Amino acid sequence: MKKAHEFDLNSPEIMEYPYDFYKAIHRDNARAVEVQGVGHWIGRMDDIKEITKNTSIFSNSYFSEGGPLPTGVSGKPLEKDVKEIFDSGPKVVNALWTTDPPKHTLHRKLVNKAFTGKWVRSMEPKIRDIANGLIDSFIDEGKTDFIKDYAVYVPMIVIAEALGMSREDAKQFKHWSDDILSGNLDVLDHRARLRVAKSFVEANNHFEATIDERRKCPADDLITSLATAEVEGKSLDTSEVLPIVNTLMLAGNETTTNLIGNAMKLLFEYPEAMYDISHDYNLIPGFIDEVMRFEAPVQCLYRVVTEDTEIGDVKISKDSSIMLGWGTAGRDPKYFDNPDIFDIYRSNSSQNVGFGFGPHICVGLGLAKAEAKIAFETLFDRLKDIELDKNSDLSHIPTFATRGYKKLNLQFKNNN
Ligand code: HEM
Repeated sequence: MKKAHEFDLNSPEIMEYPYDFYKAIHRDNARAVEVQGVGHWIGRMDDIKEITKNTSIFSNSYFSEGGPLPTGVSGKPLEKDVKEIFDSGPKVVNALWTTDPPKHTLHRKLVNKAFTGKWVRSMEPKIRDIANGLIDSFIDEGKTDFIKDYAVYVPMIVIAEALGMSREDAKQFKHWSDDILSGNLDVLDHRARLRVAKSFVEANNHFEATIDERRKCPADDLITSLATAEVEGKSLDTSEVLPIVNTLMLAGNETTTNLIGNAMKLLFEYPEAMYDISHDYNLIPGFIDEVMRFEAPVQCLYRVVTEDTEIGDVKISKDSSIMLGWGTAGRDPKYFDNPDIFDIYRSNSSQNVGFGFGPHICVGLGLAKAEAKIAFETLFDRLKDIELDKNSDLSHIPTFATRGYKKLNLQFKNNN
């Protein structure tokens, strides 16, 4: 079998199936594997846990001061017309995800005040209502593209409504987030950069107006909590709230879509799991944890190295990047027995790091788990004899950073 460093991470085969690469990392105890054009890949759970806590050497501050989007990661100059669009929008700075302590600690305390367990529980009836509304739109047809019609819209409508938008406006919201997420600005062509800039500024204008409105007239929603929360007498100003709102819009959508999509596909591969969870909804949380371990929707994320350092006996130089392989750690045999076996009854699936680890651990993990749980409960309440159309394209989205399906065509019967 190939050594870990012999795999080409940019090859279509690895994007489709990265698990032989991960297996090689654990077999060889490879602590930092150099990946061409990417940086060093870290896959062992112990290393990931150590590194995420060491924010002074492994930093999240790898974007320019104007925030992550206007210049991309490399700071490559923008064309004049693209820059003009960005400059016409509200000011944004680095906040929360793109900062390190102590700034991150303050931002995180403020955001945690909004994302409480109580708030997630208060969202549950709304999530169920959204899931039912989506199923209403396709149930009579007896078939659906599960990703496009369901897995995309459950998280999208939930977060759009939480941010003060109406259900009807969720399509606008999707349009902005699709544009903004359409690629790293560094590699997009001029036309695409114009499109990203336009959507970025439109979204920020919209949310700036909503933040102003909520400060004057508070409502019972997430955007009010973010705009008005105080820690040690400090609150966030609009240039900080805006990038946090952007992160919520972007971080909570495709990720949760992929969790729901990956979970659905695994149920076809493991029909006994489908039978068990559809007959006992108490098994769904453990199933979701196991999906997060086995097929993490976010397979890896960057850190930038602030000083020359070593991981094991591998030298890592200042300013280089490392990738934290959340999905690789899910297959670490030191933590999970027979890690390549999917088992909804595994006792320690919840130890996965699919939502990250350390100070930046996912803000929305409670919400994402609630969305996935309710999405499946509602599905099993309403549909039966669900089958996968095996003739449809079952390939993954072509990237090694996230893991999800482009489409999943299903057939089913109405459960009434
Ligand atoms: C299955 C769905 C999700 C997955 C797999 C996921 C994954 C992650 C991961 C791996 C991180 C760690 C980032 C790092 O260490 O650099 C993270 C952070 C974050 N996530 Fe999620 N996420 C999901 C859903 C959500 C949702 C629903 C929201 C909010 C609505 C959200 C908001 C955030 C935010 C704001 C951060 C940054 C936290 C910080 O820097 O302190 N995520 N997420």
